[in-house]
Amino acid sequence: MRDNLFDKKIDIADFRFDKEVVKVFDDMVRRSVPGYDSMIQMIGLCARIYGQDNTNYYDLGSSTGAITLSLALNNKSKNNQFFAVDNSEEMIKECKKNLNKKVDNLQAICDDINQVKIQNAAIVVLNLTLQFIDVKLRSILIKKIYEGLNPGGILIISEKVHFDDELTQNHITKLHLDFKKENGYSELEIANKRQAIENVLITETKEDHLKRLRDCGFKETSCFFQCLNFVSFLSVK
Ligand SMILES: C[S@@+](CC[C@H](N)C(=O)[O-])C[C@H]1O[C@@H](n2cnc3c(N)ncnc32)[C@H](O)[C@@H]1O
Repeated sequence: MRDNLFDKKIDIADFRFDKEVVKVFDDMVRRSVPGYDSMIQMIGLCARIYGQDNTNYYDLGSSTGAITLSLALNNKSKNNQFFAVDNSEEMIKECKKNLNKKVDNLQAICDDINQVKIQNAAIVVLNLTLQFIDVKLRSILIKKIYEGLNPGGILIISEKVHFDDELTQNHITKLHLDFKKENGYSELEIANKRQAIENVLITETKEDHLKRLRDCGFKETSCFFQCLNFVSFLSVK
């Protein structure tokens, strides 16, 4: 369904992944995040290379299940359990509906990813999710993931980032705005959504992410994808 949630002059409440957002999520994310489909494809490629037999794969903040599906379709390993975790009941309902007949060994769990146990993991993905976690809790979450990964296991993080350099920040923001307009969002919709999301989506710089990953134990991280202000990092344990 087409996203027109923000096309009216309304009182803007903080953004939530509720029933209304679930209905339009797949359209919203594709028209708002440049390179979203490439992120999914690249994460699938990583699953082929870094998957391990008899291990768990985690999609944290799974929304409607696109990443779990890509992991499952590309998986070359045996005897894997797929965990799709989201704290929005409506999202998990939709995720189950989308993946039920497509992914074997699926556990779609409605829970806070800060509370979920990560164990015997070969692959953990935070695709556009860490940005919604309280900044103070981010290191605790990344350390927990590091501890739960097997040697050779990977963490993939995709995030919206900002740039310390003002000129770069302005240029990239303008391009991102044009990307959304090109995809049919009006100035009003863009302004309303920005207002709704600004207290809940907290961006950091690429350097902040790289430092945190190092501090949490990952010796090797590469930024394997970037489109405007959206990046994906691959960290290997
Ligand atoms: C932008 S969406 C992620 C998109 C999805 N990973 C994909 O690639 O299609 C962010 C998701 O994270 C979930 N989320 C945010 N904070 C969470 C938390 N503390 N625990 C679990 N899920 C959370 C939201 O409900 C939402 O579905």
